Amino acid sequence: MALTRIAVELATRRPSRSYTVFVDPDAGAESRLAAELGRRAPNVRIALLTDTRVDALHRPRFERALRAAGFSPLVKCVAVGEAAKSLGVVEQICESWIDAGLDRSSVVLTLGGGVVGDLGGLCAALFMRGIRYVQVPTTLLSQVDSSVGGKTAVNLPQGKNLVGAFHQPLFVWADVSALATLPARERISGLAEVVKHGLIADEELFLLIEERAEAARAGDLALLAELVARSCAVKAAVVGADEEERSPLVDGGDGGRAKLNYGHTIGHALELESAGRLRHGEAVALGMLAAARVGAALGLGEAGLEGRLENLLNRLGLPTDLDRRLGRTVLERAMHDKKRTGQKVAFVLLSRIGAAELRLLDRDHLTAVLQGSKSG
Ligand SMILES: NC(=O)c1ccc[n+]([C@@H]2O[C@H](COP(=O)([O-])OP(=O)(O)OC[C@H]3O[C@@H](n4cnc5c(N)ncnc54)[C@H](O)[C@@H]3O)[C@@H](O)[C@H]2O)c1
Ligand SMILES: [Zn+2]
Repeated sequence: MALTRIAVELATRRPSRSYTVFVDPDAGAESRLAAELGRRAPNVRIALLTDTRVDALHRPRFERALRAAGFSPLVKCVAVGEAAKSLGVVEQICESWIDAGLDRSSVVLTLGGGVVGDLGGLCAALFMRGIRYVQVPTTLLSQVDSSVGGKTAVNLPQGKNLVGAFHQPLFVWADVSALATLPARERISGLAEVVKHGLIADEELFLLIEERAEAARAGDLALLAELVARSCAVKAAVVGADEEERSPLVDGGDGGRAKLNYGHTIGHALELESAGRLRHGEAVALGMLAAARVGAALGLGEAGLEGRLENLLNRLGLPTDLDRRLGRTVLERAMHDKKRTGQKVAFVLLSRIGAAELRLLDRDHLTAVLQGSKSG
């Protein structure tokens, strides 16, 4: 695969605006990224934000390439993990940028997974009322999902992503070669979002990962590049049409950006219940199985999807032990999902593989369906 450019066209903006997601499958991505930055933002200060693991693994080659392109990046490194997504860390980062003399023309470069991207994106949204930033995602999850779409946020003690902003990047540069150093479990967790993108919007993507599940699980980089590009195209189309997730949640509608929540109503509840034992993608895999079961009970989508999906998730190394995990507290958590309207829960289902549909479901009905056994 050659360097692929995917346009995110923000159709709801007046005038409309667009930016590019570059999916770069080859070695030396850092130099091409630095050259693009030189073209788009010459002679500015670059604030590179990363975490300690990516700092050790990848930051040196990116810093070298930026210097070779004439930049003098200021490097700031946060601790690994979700705890970095806090208002305290936002304050520290912004103070360090002020102390270093950054100004409104400066550009933030987030080098890392979704944590660094969400945190750095929010800092960029807030610093001097908003400066430009570039996402350089280095985990599979961040390449296929979090780096595209402009959602930035940090957490509060009360919950995840409760303080944030929509702030679209100048561009995104997915360096697929960086995935070579990613632990297998992180990689496999990211594959769940690829499966999701195929299910909701791209049947060919679903068929591709189904055909090559073992290679995807093993981290075949050429295959991952293709999966990242197709996933980004799905995400770009969805967020382009509904940037700020304002599409009304109506029964039978397409759900707009909310359809990216396929598998997430139950997935989030399982993730919370597991208290850190399930990775996000693992919980989403289980949540998609639950959604397939609900679809079957409503006679929606194709027969046998739950079994077919279970087989795929097994081959990818994702968990499928849904029944064991669907206890009362998980169901209660799911029914209090934020996409709830009164007694109804907005639930994303598939009308077929490659097309999503929103349904407003009665909470008691939904609970009963989920407690029923596998749909086959
Ligand atoms: N903004 C959005 O639209 C959106 C969407 C989905 C998820 N998210 C957020 O993304 C975050 C999760 O992202 P994540 O899964 O990337 O987690 P993460 O950023 O914590 O990265 C996971 C781990 O991988 C390490 N790592 C990163 N790149 C590596 C590489 N190339 N080689 C080796 N190790 C590497 C990191 O240091 C970290 O330890 C959550 O905070 C979630 O809320 C945001
Ligand atoms: Zn997700």
